[in-house]
Amino acid sequence: MRQSTLQVQADMNSAVAIFYAVSFFATTLALIALIWAITRGQLEHGSLGARVIFRRGEVGHTEEPAATEEERAKLVIASGRTPEAPDPADEAETRAEIEARRIADTSSRGPVLFHLTSSIIWLLVGSLAGLIVSLKFTMPDWLTDSALLTFGRLRPLHLNTVIYGWLSMNGIAVALWLFPRLLKTPLRGGRYAIAGGVLWNLGMIIGSVSLLVGWTDGLEWLEFPWPADTLIVIGGALAGVPLLVTLAARKVEHLYVSVWYLLAAFLWFPIIYLIANIPHTFTGVDNAVMNWWYAHNVLGLWLTPIGLASAYYFIPKVIGRPVYSYQLSLIGFWSLAMFYSQAGIHHLIGGPIPTWLVTTSVVMSVGMVFPVIAVAVNHHYTMKGRFSALKSSPTLRFMVSGAMMYTLVSLQGCTESLRSVSHIVHFTHYTVAHAHFGVYGFASFIAFGSVYFLLPRLIEREWPYPNLIKWHFWLAIGGFAVYFVTLSIGGVLQGLAMLDATRPFIESVRVTIPFLWGRTLGGATMVVAHFVFAFHVFMMIRRRGPAREVSPWAQAITSVTP
Ligand code: HEM
Ligand code: HEM
Repeated sequence: MRQSTLQVQADMNSAVAIFYAVSFFATTLALIALIWAITRGQLEHGSLGARVIFRRGEVGHTEEPAATEEERAKLVIASGRTPEAPDPADEAETRAEIEARRIADTSSRGPVLFHLTSSIIWLLVGSLAGLIVSLKFTMPDWLTDSALLTFGRLRPLHLNTVIYGWLSMNGIAVALWLFPRLLKTPLRGGRYAIAGGVLWNLGMIIGSVSLLVGWTDGLEWLEFPWPADTLIVIGGALAGVPLLVTLAARKVEHLYVSVWYLLAAFLWFPIIYLIANIPHTFTGVDNAVMNWWYAHNVLGLWLTPIGLASAYYFIPKVIGRPVYSYQLSLIGFWSLAMFYSQAGIHHLIGGPIPTWLVTTSVVMSVGMVFPVIAVAVNHHYTMKGRFSALKSSPTLRFMVSGAMMYTLVSLQGCTESLRSVSHIVHFTHYTVAHAHFGVYGFASFIAFGSVYFLLPRLIEREWPYPNLIKWHFWLAIGGFAVYFVTLSIGGVLQGLAMLDATRPFIESVRVTIPFLWGRTLGGATMVVAHFVFAFHVFMMIRRRGPAREVSPWAQAITSVTP
């Protein structure tokens, strides 16, 4: 016994050393960046920093390309429009800025459209796989004749396609669109991004086929084998080139908070992805530690900053009101960088790893309350008094719901990291409900909202069937509510049944069956929502929407010139 404990501790040394070295490196980078920001006066911009996404005289003017004319008129009222007095002397400057935005959009159109359309195809593939996997919980003998369609192959297919295909490619598209806008510089090297997108897609296809034929690395979130990993790494690096080149050529001095989040995400993700995929380095317990350090950081240092970057741009932009507290947004950013990277071991509570390592991760997880509350307070006060704007803005409906779900899922996660709660819900469907709350309720809703804002700008058309946006929203949120509630209840009952030594194990399975059917019902509704969304995007790209009577640029000029 003593020997095995020593063995476990010895095994831990290299994993812990790497885990802590990298986390420490990430935190130190954050600190260096903070010092750089302070010395460059980035934190002193105060309210000016929040206003850089508006041109002079634009505050108070709503911008919602996804809304109909009628909705736009209502949005103006709901947003409590208090426009700053336009100054006719600024007209030339305003025209120049509007033209710069048009040029920015033109420069990013190709790469953004390529990544967006790819991401939506992966969303369809991934959600269909999720639905089949869900049905297999209640009909375990269904589709078992072919090894290709068994649970062990379709489940990783679902996870990898929605995370790396849907959410990641969508995030790259949003970054490629936001950078030229926020840096007031046309996108440079867009061809690299398209080449990167082609390789990324190729990696996704090879990875997906590999999983179906049974070639897998066998670690959750890291199942893709090395050829797929390599293509994704090269593809991601190529997609990142235009971001860095455009950053270097930027025409603005101040970097808006969304740029900080995106830059950090594009720095962190390659680091963790490369480390996690180094072959023959991690074995045994080390492997589990590295696995969950990686998987947690994909959520916290990749998907979360991308989602927050979008929310920080689109919410203020649509309602025409700068973010409530710019300082708070920066504090939120730095505290996320501080806490997130060392929280991942909460996935292994109860596992054969040193207590201090788990305790550190629990402390860091609870520390996540700081960045989460900072973001929540900021978004709440930005929206305060304007929540009725959600009725008339499709982008806001998705964005604000997503931002709210970010707060809720994170607070739920903080409680889930406590040993007493984990004791009941670990290894249950409750975790899966939490997982979808984060990656669907938060990250996917924000992604949907971004698409609704971006496409009319890129295609220069209105959405062809505005009612379909409403259908998409209600099917997605309704389906997700059923998914989340049923699975959470089923998960707790399952956990309690497993802990009760007087009940046979099979009871903990039986008790979940009605709730698993509930999940399938909710999931099927979500899948329908995705097909509605994809059909609408397809029609939009085929330019089936009406051309705008007045171009957004001309409209913007008329709204500030008397
Ligand atoms: C910031 C505060 C958060 C904390 C402290 C937290 C905590 C946790 C914990 C403790 C688990 C593991 C549960 C178990 O296995 O027993 C978990 C799982 C998970 N969380 Fe969170 N969470 C947070 C936010 C988020 C967010 C924002 C997302 C999505 C973007 C997310 C997505 C997930 C996913 C996908 C899993 C399941 C991973 C897997 O098993 O494959 N979480 N979280
Ligand atoms: C964009 C949409 C979606 C995303 C991003 C997503 C993401 C995920 C993630 C991260 C996991 C791993 C969770 C964990 O291990 O705790 C997962 C598992 C799963 N998802 Fe989804 N999902 C999506 C849509 C769906 C849909 C529409 C369904 C349909 C019912 C579904 C059904 C499942 C099932 C059955 C599992 C396996 C759960 C288990 O092994 O216990 N998902 N999904």
